[in-house]
Formats: sequence, C-alpha cells, structure tokens
Amino acid sequence: MAQRWTNTLTHADVTPRAAFLNRRQVMAGMAGAGLTALSGPAAAEDGLEANTWEEITSYNNYYEFGTGKDDPVKYAGSLTTEPWSIKIDGLVDRPGDYDFKDILSEMTIEERIYRFRCVEAWSMVIPWNGFELSDLLNMAGVQEGAKYVAFETAYRPEEMPGVRSPVLEWPYREGLRLDEAMHPLTIMATGIYDRPIPNQNGAPLRLVVPWKYGFKSIKSIVRITVTDTEPPTSWNMAGPREYGFYSNVNPNVDHPRWSQGSERRIGGGLFSKRVPTLMFNGYEQEVASLYDGMDLAKNY
Ligand code: MTE
Repeated sequence: MAQRWTNTLTHADVTPRAAFLNRRQVMAGMAGAGLTALSGPAAAEDGLEANTWEEITSYNNYYEFGTGKDDPVKYAGSLTTEPWSIKIDGLVDRPGDYDFKDILSEMTIEERIYRFRCVEAWSMVIPWNGFELSDLLNMAGVQEGAKYVAFETAYRPEEMPGVRSPVLEWPYREGLRLDEAMHPLTIMATGIYDRPIPNQNGAPLRLVVPWKYGFKSIKSIVRITVTDTEPPTSWNMAGPREYGFYSNVNPNVDHPRWSQGSERRIGGGLFSKRVPTLMFNGYEQEVASLYDGMDLAKNY
C-alpha cells in the first residue's frame, strides 16, 4: 500500500549516519577544536539521523537479563527463540497457540523508521521491520465487547538471569487499549535494518508503539490476550505514581523524579545533545484524536 503515514520517516528523510559523521569530521578538521563550527550542521539535522546498528543493539533495557544498559547484549544470547509460539486468547474467534513462523508467513513486513523515546529521557531513531499488530489481531478475530489487549514476555528463569531479582513482577506485562492496538502506527517488530531483531532488542517479536514511552514496547512476546478490562502492567504495578497505563510521550507531564521536557539523543558521543521532547513523540497528528476529551495529566 502507498505511504499511509506522513509522519513515518523513510530512508530519504534520514541522513545516513556515515555521511553525517563524515561531514562533522570535515567541519571539525576545518575548525580545529570544532565546537563552534559543529553547532550549525548538528542543529540542521536535528532529529533525523537513524541510530547505528551498534547503538541500537548495545544500549538496551531488558530487565530479564539485568538492569545495566549493556546486560542485554551480554546475556540475552541465552534466550532460545526458535521454535517460538504465541498464545492468542481471550475475546477472539480463533484462540490458540500460533507458531511464529506461521504468523510471519501470513503477514506483510514493512520498514518503519520511528522515533523511540524511553521514559528515562533518552531517545533513538530506529529503522524497524515488522507488521501491523492490527493484522495479527484481525487474523485471530477480535470479538465484540473487547476493549483492551494484554501482552506477556516469556518467563524463563533458566535462560533469564535477571528474573532472579524482584525488580519487577514477572512475567513482564504490558497492555494497550484496543483502539491503540489497532492503530496503524502500532507494529510488531521482527527486524532492525532488515536483519532479524536481535535477542537484546526482543527477538523474535516485540511490540513498538512509537508515541508511547519505550517501556510499553514489550519484548519477546509469548501471549496476547484480548479482554474487556484494563490489564495490569509490570511498570504500573512497580510504581503506579510514576508509570501510568497510558504512558504517552508528553513533554508537559513530568515524571515525578525528572523532567520529560527534553531528551538525550543516543549517539554522537561528545556532541550528543538534549533536544526538546515532542508531544506524542512527534506523532500528534496521527494519534491525538485517540485521546480527545481526556485529561492527559490524570491519564498519564
Ligand atoms: N520488555 C521486556 N520484556 N523487559 C524489559 O525490561 N524494557 C522496556 C521495553 N520493553 C523491557 C521491555 C523499556 S524500559 C524500554 S526503553 C525498551 O524496551 C527498550 O527497547 P530497546 O532495548 O530495544 O531500545
């Protein structure tokens, strides 16, 4: 189908990282110390550089493998991702245990280059490959009366050293309202940069909801339940005042312990800078109507 999402970045919008760095290096060479000369090009390209494979796959949050940013890349290799099956149950016409490979054969994989904003106030731009969650839910057949979708990550103490720690209630759980789940921006990611998604990023499939804080984008999903009641979620259970069910990116609603008004772009090393956080992470035009009439400070 033709481009449906005006706000989905494409490769044409994104400055290839290598070209960007080369230009900066040239500028730095010309200007000696460089900082003055650098402010120009860096500002001009604000927000539109895709992060490198290396950055996306080595700075992660995946607490089942530890709470350090480099724990997932070190330890997630132990997760067995083949075979993989996903239980789809609850208010669906065709409940069952679906083999990941069978699901893939039914789905259309597309590239979606999305901004990704963690609640911790760092961000990246990630070229995902995946399919729309709505296609999977339609395959299972959502029944009348359904209002929410609940997700669960695999729980495997023998493969996940981090679950020995009670930092969260396991299995990791997340949820969306049905209209959020059916929104065309909401995808199940199965790849990054046209390569299978690595374990540390949530192999073999993880949710990506680009207008919400990253913790909503649950990894390595083994169960999807369509339901009529708001499902409990791991971060909300751990800190209800800090992590709401909605968790839409919102620069006007601060986390109780830090500002959400700006974010630190991962990458760029010495030159990484804070940039303003955008309402709904820049996807306001596409998703604001989902929340018409809602008090977003209350429904954080
Ligand atoms: N999913 C599971 N199962 N466990 C986790 O700890 N961390 C979340 C989310 N999904 C997490 C998870 C958080 S806090 C973020 S910011 C993103 O994954 C990080 O995704 P990334 O490592 O691919 O950047």
